[in-house]
Amino acid sequence: MLGEAARLLARSKFAIAFTGAGISAESGVPTFRGPDGLWGHYRAEELATPEAFERDPHLVWKFYRWRMGLIAGVKPNRAHYALVELERMGLLKAVITQNVDDLHRKAGNRNLIELHGNIFHIRCPSCGYHKDIRESGRLDNFLAQKEVPRCPECGSVLRPDVVWFGEPLPREPLKGAFSLAGRADLVLVIGTSGVVYPAAYIPYTVWENGGSVIEVNTSESGITPIADVFLRGKSGEVMDGLLKKVRGVLNG
Ligand code: OAD
Ligand code: ZN
Repeated sequence: MLGEAARLLARSKFAIAFTGAGISAESGVPTFRGPDGLWGHYRAEELATPEAFERDPHLVWKFYRWRMGLIAGVKPNRAHYALVELERMGLLKAVITQNVDDLHRKAGNRNLIELHGNIFHIRCPSCGYHKDIRESGRLDNFLAQKEVPRCPECGSVLRPDVVWFGEPLPREPLKGAFSLAGRADLVLVIGTSGVVYPAAYIPYTVWENGGSVIEVNTSESGITPIADVFLRGKSGEVMDGLLKKVRGVLNG
């Protein structure tokens, strides 16, 4: 299985990666739908909506400050670094992620599309004010506050600059992702349940065009039916093994 995946990758002309929460699980970031994907009595899906924010911005901000703090303290794992190495080798042209945790960037991937935003970015829904809260070392200060953050320009309640359920994806990243998927002859799908659309159409687009689909997951997903090779296991271990095999194929 690993050998077949390595041969497909080594032979590909334009490979892309499509990642989800599972790639960050070994870094300690809880996934959304797994047994650990819970926060207090709430599910992420129940808090990550415009309706929840409308109803109770304090609760939603409490949840996001908790996640920001958690994510600020974790590091990329072997799966993230394997993708950096594949990009450096010229085999991987881009990483398209549904994650907001910034770990692909931290690891060093250069051509990166974040479909669902970035958890460290906040924005004003009224006037368009936008900020990376890590700038000028203010993250700890921001996380320690109890009140709902307000826009310094217009006083409105600020929100995390991430995509919530029921919201459209940002246009430019979406266009970029589908243009890459349209060119790709291989997609490496790592750690996603593949049930959230339109993001999940990305591997399907590659498949429809005749490209290969390699999937890495601890269990089967919405993408598994179209996977040419399904590599079951934790993404850090599997990607480490895959990288070694790819090197072997290229050198052998
Ligand atoms: P999910 O939580 O739905 O799925 C995580 C996937 O990772 C599952 O298929 C697990 O089997 C797999 N998994 C868990 N641990 C793993 C490991 N160590 N190695 C490999 N695979 C592992 O997360 P996403 O598919 O990313 O959207 O969810 C998609 C979107 O739904 C998220 O971006 C978010 C969420 O609600 C928004 O916030 C808009
Ligand atoms: Zn404002």
